[in-house]
Amino acid sequence: MENQFILTEIIAEDKIAILRLNRPKELNALNLELMSQLRDSLVALDANDEVRCMIITGNERVFAAGADIKQMAGKGAIDMLKIDQFTTWDTIRRVKKPIIAAVSGYALGGACELCMLCDMIVASETAQFGQPEIKIGVMPGAGGTQRLLRAVGKARAMEMAMTGRFITATEAYDYGLINKIVPVELYLSEAMKMAKTIADMSPLAIQAIKESINEAAETFLQEGLRLERKNFYMLFATEDQKEGMSAFIEKRKPNFKGC
Ligand code: CAA
Repeated sequence: MENQFILTEIIAEDKIAILRLNRPKELNALNLELMSQLRDSLVALDANDEVRCMIITGNERVFAAGADIKQMAGKGAIDMLKIDQFTTWDTIRRVKKPIIAAVSGYALGGACELCMLCDMIVASETAQFGQPEIKIGVMPGAGGTQRLLRAVGKARAMEMAMTGRFITATEAYDYGLINKIVPVELYLSEAMKMAKTIADMSPLAIQAIKESINEAAETFLQEGLRLERKNFYMLFATEDQKEGMSAFIEKRKPNFKGC
């Protein structure tokens, strides 16, 4: 039961590992426990000489529907600052081996951000990406204003974060957010093919490439992430956050008042 939310399979002959997000009833919502288990699994695989490339995936319907709204709904800004949930993400960011996201269905909010924390994204034609936090009275808190800007450009990042609109796999490909789109029955095997190609290369060279590209992409990112994180936690001081998340749970339209 230790890793109930992350199912890990190592394919020894290919030197790859598949980590499956496993909260299907909650659409794989990324609660604190799941993210801790994901971090611990990735850190362990990073130190495992038998594995050279990891794949994070969900199921055919959903990669993940974002952070767990039910777990956050009642929290205040001080709770959020104390929990500081995104330090888990910092550890994942420091994983040295390459990580591929294999996405089918929804990848929303924190899940879209988790995809962007990965190094490459393979999507099925049913994949949908989005940053819908605005609809529940908050904002992205794990890179959705920072990495998204770098991935798709300012106008598209603004639109996605301000309207919460989901984009299709085709749009995500055209925006440069993802690497490829394949029929739904092939998204995992295609990611495995890519992982195997990478696993056959020099692991030290692969590690140096990952480090170099991330360094180039993130030179000014840490500042942006710090600001984003503070703002995200700060929004838990607003009534609109309570209203937005309660409305989601109660399955009604939110009434935002600007306080
Ligand atoms: N957190 C907690 N529970 C969630 C959830 C989430 N993010 N997303 C879905 N669920 C739950 C639903 O509450 C529902 O549970 P019940 O059966 O107990 O009611 C169950 O999963 C199935 O969901 P739906 O009935 O809503 O399924 P649907 O097919 O009608 O809609 C969906 C699917 C469009 C993904 C919709 O569930 C949805 O909009 N989810 C929320 C998406 C979202 O806002 N994500 C951002 C979260 S905040 C965040 O991620 C912050 C950050 O930057 C880290």
